[in-house]
Amino acid sequence: MLATMGAMGLAPTAEAAGREPAFRAPRTGDFTLRGRGAAKVVVVGAGIAGLTCAYELGKAGYDCTVLEARDRTGGRNFTVRGGDSTVDLYGNRQTARFSDGQYLNAGPARIPQWMITLDYCRELGVPIEVFTNSNASAYIYNEKAGMTAPVRYRTAKADTYGYVSELLAKATSKGALDGEINAEDRERLLEFLKSFGDIGSKLTYTGSEHRGFTVDPAAAGTPGVELGSVPTVSEVFASGVGRYFSFEFGYDQAMLMFQPVGGMDRIPAALTRAVGGHRIRTGAVVQKITDKARGVTVTYSQDGRTRSIDADYCVAALPPHILAKIPHNLGAAVQTALEAVRPSSAGKIGLEYRSRWWETDHRIYGGITETDMDLSHIWYPSYGFHERRGLIVGYYNTGTNADSYALLSPAEREKRAVAQGVKIHGDRYRTELASSFSHHWRQTPHLEGAWHSMSGGPDAPAYAPLNQAAGRVYFAGDYLSYADAWQHGAFTSARKVVTTLHQRVLA
Ligand code: PHE
Repeated sequence: MLATMGAMGLAPTAEAAGREPAFRAPRTGDFTLRGRGAAKVVVVGAGIAGLTCAYELGKAGYDCTVLEARDRTGGRNFTVRGGDSTVDLYGNRQTARFSDGQYLNAGPARIPQWMITLDYCRELGVPIEVFTNSNASAYIYNEKAGMTAPVRYRTAKADTYGYVSELLAKATSKGALDGEINAEDRERLLEFLKSFGDIGSKLTYTGSEHRGFTVDPAAAGTPGVELGSVPTVSEVFASGVGRYFSFEFGYDQAMLMFQPVGGMDRIPAALTRAVGGHRIRTGAVVQKITDKARGVTVTYSQDGRTRSIDADYCVAALPPHILAKIPHNLGAAVQTALEAVRPSSAGKIGLEYRSRWWETDHRIYGGITETDMDLSHIWYPSYGFHERRGLIVGYYNTGTNADSYALLSPAEREKRAVAQGVKIHGDRYRTELASSFSHHWRQTPHLEGAWHSMSGGPDAPAYAPLNQAAGRVYFAGDYLSYADAWQHGAFTSARKVVTTLHQRVLA
């Protein structure tokens, strides 16, 4: 009733009633707008940013309508299941033939523990499970660097850390670091290197059980056989394996990481339910945004007809390079800023297999294999362990690698990805394949990008016009955050926008 009265302008705000200050700044994890707003807001784009704006404003009493150009909500949060169909901008039509329970998170697929994406999972009741982002048993295969066989992460690390420790220990022992550290610290450094590199009292790396075993340790009489043929220091550095090790130190990528149980789109599905399906119009392609002195008019086409909607405010939560193509009267500065945001490419292919041979034959349970081939990364599934079938991400690549795959037909993409994967995993990578589905973001209608590049970051002067309202129009999206290419960026940008909009309404 309050919301309805609010919409009619009959509900007094807390401030008008002379109570406590109506607005309180949000705290991480329990965001809520204080005080009731009574304005009508049209949100353009039902991705994570747009849905979050409608969700948070709705909780505070606003009357929101969301316009979404695609036939589904979620934006780049897109989980592909059997029966899902897409047509890309090149005209490739695909229908996924994945079996029940198998899915590909074509967009976001991993969530760090610190990101507020997990707060929304908690609040919306979306169950989560661990996503394995790094795995000692996964492989590294640098074909261009001359590797002829894949090497396990644990082996690559043992060799790299072993030789680095040996070199540093030798330098220290020769007194090369005497100008840097005192005698006590020298001893402590040596102690650390001995265990980190497993180089023994001779301070020489000759291999280590850190590398792994060809015969695993078992019952008495079976001590195990350590992996042999230790490469030379020169071979280790020439292989380039070390270039992948810092990835797991990244604030964004460090384990543990999480994923929603059943697919990443459980998040937009829950948001969509919370906002209310009746407030969301799909297939609504915006044609024009007009800011007026007392409101905003958004014109859109739906089912071949042109419609328009009037509101007090608008949140433009669509990709900036798409908005740049839509007529508006928000001014030249806004247009220049929108055009300065460059979209980036990324693609993925989901390969469904009839058996989970990576678990049985390779003993790999989730995680990522790294390569210098154009498929870039191979992801093993972090769900469905020990089930009969499973789905591997056969490539996850970006930039020109993604663009070159996008130019191929879906069948050719599969062929090229499988041919590369066979080099690492052998024939079963081809013979056990059931079906595939590939997705390329730069070629996805109405989105046309995986994420964005913005020189100088979101606070650079060039983007200032987007970090404030243009009349009654606000801008939201992960691109306007320090977490571009993460849902966290979309959530935090949305919170910022609804906070300022609400402040303005209450004032
Ligand atoms: N968030 C995306 C991912 O984790 C894209 C990304 C990759 C963003 C690496 C930052 C760093 O794959």
